[in-house]
Amino acid sequence: MIKLPGLIDPHVHLREPGATHKEDFDSGTSAALAGGITLVLAMPNTKPPIFDADTLDLALDAAKQKAHCDYGQFVGAGPDNADWNEGKRKALPQRAAGLKMYLDSTFGELRLDDMSLWMPHFENYPKNMPIVAHSESRTMAAAILFAAIYDRPVHIAHISLKEEVLLIKAAKERGIKVTCEVCPHHLFLDKDLTGFGNLSGLTPGRMEVRPRLATQNDVDALWANLDVIDCFATDHAPHTIEEKDSDNPPPGFPGLETILPLLLTAVSESRLTLPDLIQKMYTNPKKIFNLPDQPETWVEVDEDQTYEIKAAEQFTRCNWTPFEGWKVKGKVRKVVLRGKTAFEDGKILAPAGYGRNVRD
Ligand code: DOR
Ligand code: ZN
Repeated sequence: MIKLPGLIDPHVHLREPGATHKEDFDSGTSAALAGGITLVLAMPNTKPPIFDADTLDLALDAAKQKAHCDYGQFVGAGPDNADWNEGKRKALPQRAAGLKMYLDSTFGELRLDDMSLWMPHFENYPKNMPIVAHSESRTMAAAILFAAIYDRPVHIAHISLKEEVLLIKAAKERGIKVTCEVCPHHLFLDKDLTGFGNLSGLTPGRMEVRPRLATQNDVDALWANLDVIDCFATDHAPHTIEEKDSDNPPPGFPGLETILPLLLTAVSESRLTLPDLIQKMYTNPKKIFNLPDQPETWVEVDEDQTYEIKAAEQFTRCNWTPFEGWKVKGKVRKVVLRGKTAFEDGKILAPAGYGRNVRD
């Protein structure tokens, strides 16, 4: 048995408000605990999107009633809400996990096309609170330029390409305040499903995700440059299996219940070390996102137990996983959160409402 700190996932989509048939704070934070994660930061591309005091209250009220683990809620950058240092908006950044900027197109309505719309957000959002950018390829290069110009940190979500990890490396070497995360699906899957065929029944609709799955060459570059990567994050983006198999499949994979077993399997294969895993799933996200201590909090893992990933055994409401049937090594047995056994042997024991807002 190994003992890990309560793990942090700084990038999840819990679909509340607006799409609770996919997930809500109840099912999503249950999935988190089952996956060894005790703190999640929720993204704002909900319906409606979270972008002002009223919509932030909507999400936080739901979370307060329903969350089983600790949480924070991002606000989204829109064309009309960049006056973060004025009037009614001034109090918001301290109540939010951070500011999410959608600079490339993806699921939901939040998107900032014109760089002139980025400027006031970089200028006005408090420098001690995180900005996270969904920015791919050259858009990512632009986001890093903004961090340099405004001399403030930016965290790049879900990097997937060789050119991205190499540019972040170069930017870090020059002292630009950029950090980044990578998702398990960009480490374990490539667009041609090299190496494992189509075991998971990954039809084109189920493979839709943003950023898209990349080439094996990109995947290799991420593994070769793990020292450049600050965090592992799931980008847990549940859509139901019916939606994924429809004519218009939305992009996104669930990931909360598979990140830790996949990475522990990589540890057992010496592709990763346990201290690296702890750094990227606890120490670094805690620092980058200014997160409080969770006292008396830990995860117990049976590192020798092998098992098969099965969507049918998961807490996420979406009912599928791209890793169906994968054999993994390392099972979460027990999660203790703030002194209480919150998960043990497949059962959620922390009640809905036990989770705390990390910004309270
Ligand atoms: O695949 C994705 N799904 N990428 C995103 O950026 C958004 C997410 C979602 O919300 O479904
Ligand atoms: Zn996302």
